[in-house]
Amino acid sequence: MTPVGILAASTFTSTEVLSLVYLLAASMFILGLKGLSSPKSARRGNFIAAGGMAIAIVASLTRIHPHATQVILILIAVVIGASVGAISARKVKMTAMPQMVAAFNGVGGGAAATVAVIEYLRLGVPGRGAVVTAISTVLSVAIGAVSFSGSIIAFSKLQEILTGVPITYKGQQIVNGLVFAAIAVIAVYLIAIGTGTVLLAVLLVLALVLGVAFVLPIGGADMPVVISLLNAFTGLAVAASGFELGNTVLIVGGTLVGASGTLLTKMMSDSMGRSIGNVLFAAVGKVTADAGTGAAAGTNQSVRSGNSDDIGVMLAYSKKVIVVPGYGLAVAQAQHAVRDLARALEAKGAEVTYAIHPVAGRMPGHMNVLLAEADVPYDQLKEMDEINDDFRNADVVLVVGANDVVNPAARNEATSPIYGMPILNADEAKNIVFLKRSMRPGFAGVDNPLLYDPKTIMLFGDAKDSLLKLISAVKAA
Ligand code: TAP
Repeated sequence: MTPVGILAASTFTSTEVLSLVYLLAASMFILGLKGLSSPKSARRGNFIAAGGMAIAIVASLTRIHPHATQVILILIAVVIGASVGAISARKVKMTAMPQMVAAFNGVGGGAAATVAVIEYLRLGVPGRGAVVTAISTVLSVAIGAVSFSGSIIAFSKLQEILTGVPITYKGQQIVNGLVFAAIAVIAVYLIAIGTGTVLLAVLLVLALVLGVAFVLPIGGADMPVVISLLNAFTGLAVAASGFELGNTVLIVGGTLVGASGTLLTKMMSDSMGRSIGNVLFAAVGKVTADAGTGAAAGTNQSVRSGNSDDIGVMLAYSKKVIVVPGYGLAVAQAQHAVRDLARALEAKGAEVTYAIHPVAGRMPGHMNVLLAEADVPYDQLKEMDEINDDFRNADVVLVVGANDVVNPAARNEATSPIYGMPILNADEAKNIVFLKRSMRPGFAGVDNPLLYDPKTIMLFGDAKDSLLKLISAVKAA
């Protein structure tokens, strides 16, 4: 008998069948997340999670028994939402992926807050008798609204609609703290007393203000960390909606998003050698902008610059080459060119591997995704801990559009803003070649002593152009 037949012939009630379907959807979310932990299984994980989501949506629709007009409205909403999602996901450039995540995340938070407001208007915030529903309604509105407006600001900073430089003023954190306190007081009042449409509206507006005020003082380049945190907020808001609507799959899905977003935020901060508090409250981009010009102007050390022919010959005679990809690889869209150079080197007998720093680029897994797009074999991609002891055996380290992730100041200079950030030990190699356009610093805005190291050769220019020249030079050597 088929599984459906077993269910039909069994004594399960429709509510129990629905719970089992929700359990299936929730299990698929978990399997999907597990799949995302490795580039090899990420695509499959995505499909499994999307399948779970489709099952959850259809199962939820069977629960509400909508009449014909509602069905049409729901279908129109599904078609519009799915089309916007699919078209923008297909069209988005890899470098613009963080802002797309910000936009989608904001929509999720906004949806959770909207559902909570509508439920409130329909039923009213329940009083003491239903504390859980009251708490979840208030939390959904507050957290969902913070996530919505915060994500809009994060999107605007990344899209350069707003300046990426932190927008700060004196006493800002105190003002933000007061807004937060007002939200907390209103929330407690609504939960305890259980009435007040005007107060709920005030709570909503204050939460929207807090989302904006909280993200404005954070630098543009820290936005991926902020988006991950706001993503965790959206998860919590959605889980709260689940309690409010009595929907298990929302509770499970929201909790998974909340937990994974929190872990990702912590991991990103750790990989930058910074605390979450430092990312959120230190306005690091402001320090960065100032330090950046200072560092660039203040140095008079000499730099060794080379040409592609000489560097090509050096590479062609190397036995072991480690490529360190960074943000500039994404900007130059040089992933196919770097793969072709690796193939040319392998044809000459060299062993080529890629050292992947956890925060190289501007979003988690940025380099893995780029290199996977160019069909670079997964086993050539080495995590930082796996490869760091191997740099000393490398004949050449080719740093392609990376900077901060190989900056020895993070290890050696206690006063450096990036001191404590774990870095790739590129400085231990016999030769280091930097492919970048200028002596400008990277995201952290601090000078990189490795650029002035006698073992280092600079090949100035756009990474893709330089790589194409190097491929010709290697082949000709
Ligand atoms: P960065 O330190 O930002 O350095 C990137 C380098 O690429 C720049 O020095 C730039 O130099 C060069 N570049 C830009 N466009 C180029 C092009 N077309 N061709 C060649 N070079 C180009 O990058 P990284 O080493 O990948 O480090 C990432 C930084 O971002 C870290 O500080 C990290 O903490 C931060 N961050 C990362 C994340 C995540 S999750 N990945 C999140 C937040 C912050 P020129 O201008 O001279 O070319």
